[in-house]
Amino acid sequence: MRILFIGDIVGRPGRDVILAELPRLRDSLKPDFIVANGENAAGGFGLTRVLADELFATGIDCITTGNHWADQKEILGFIDHEDRILRPRNYPAGVPGKGAGLYETRGGQRVLVMNLMGRVFMDALDDPFAAAEAELSACPLGEGADAVIVDMHAEATSEKMAMGQFCDGRASAVIGTHSHIPTADAQVLPGGTAYQTDAGACADYDSVIGMEKYEPIQRFLKKMHGSRFQPANGPATLCGAFVVTDPRGLATRIDPIRVGGRLKQALPEL
Ligand SMILES: [Fe+2]
Ligand SMILES: [Fe+2]
Repeated sequence: MRILFIGDIVGRPGRDVILAELPRLRDSLKPDFIVANGENAAGGFGLTRVLADELFATGIDCITTGNHWADQKEILGFIDHEDRILRPRNYPAGVPGKGAGLYETRGGQRVLVMNLMGRVFMDALDDPFAAAEAELSACPLGEGADAVIVDMHAEATSEKMAMGQFCDGRASAVIGTHSHIPTADAQVLPGGTAYQTDAGACADYDSVIGMEKYEPIQRFLKKMHGSRFQPANGPATLCGAFVVTDPRGLATRIDPIRVGGRLKQALPEL
C-alpha cells in the first residue's frame, strides 16, 4: 500500500500549497490513502467545517489534529458526526470526537489511523502509550487492519521516538507532528515501522513555526503578549512523508516530501 502523510497545514498558505501541489503528488505517487494534520488550518488555530470539506475535496482521506483541535468551537458541533476527523485519542473520556478510525481505501484495504498526543512540555493528558497499546491490540496489523498509521502529535523528540520504537512491528508508520519543522531521520525501524520524528508543517517557512515572525520574536524579547499570532503569508512548503508497505502492512520505504515554498525540495525517486 502507498500512504501519503502530510504535516500540520497552517492557515491559508498551507491550504493553498495543498491545493496547488497535492494533485501533482497524487498523480506521481498514486497514494492509496492520504492522512493530513489539520489542527492549524483555520488561521493557524483549529479547523472549521468549510475548511475540512475543502481539504477532503483535494483527496485527503483522514484529517488528524492535536492540541489545537478545538480552537474553533464549531468543531464541537460536528466532530461526532464526521468519521474522517480525529482528535488525540488520549483526551479524557467524554470529550467529543474520537482518536482512532478504521477506514477503507477504494481498493478495499483497511487502514487504522490513530492520533496521539505527547505529554512532555504539553498539557497533561492520559497516557498516549496505553492508548496506543489499546488500539493496536484491538485492531492488530495484518488481522484487523492492512495498514496502521499513527500521528504522534508531540513536542519532545524523545517522546515521539519512544512511540515509534514502542509501535515498531505493529504499525505501518509512526510519524510526528506539532513541531512544524521536518526532521531528517526518516527510516524504517528494525521491526518494519516507518518513522519520522516530525513531518514538518505545510507553512511559509519565512516565519517562526509558520507564524508571522514579528510577534513571536517580541514575545521572546519582552516576555509579554502584544498582538495575536497570524500565519505568515508567503508561499508555503508542503511537508510530509511517503510510505510504501508490503502485504503484511510493514513498511519497505519512507521518503520525506518537501515541495513548494522556500525549503530545500525533496521528492521520492520511484
Ligand atoms: Fe500544529
Ligand atoms: Fe500542535
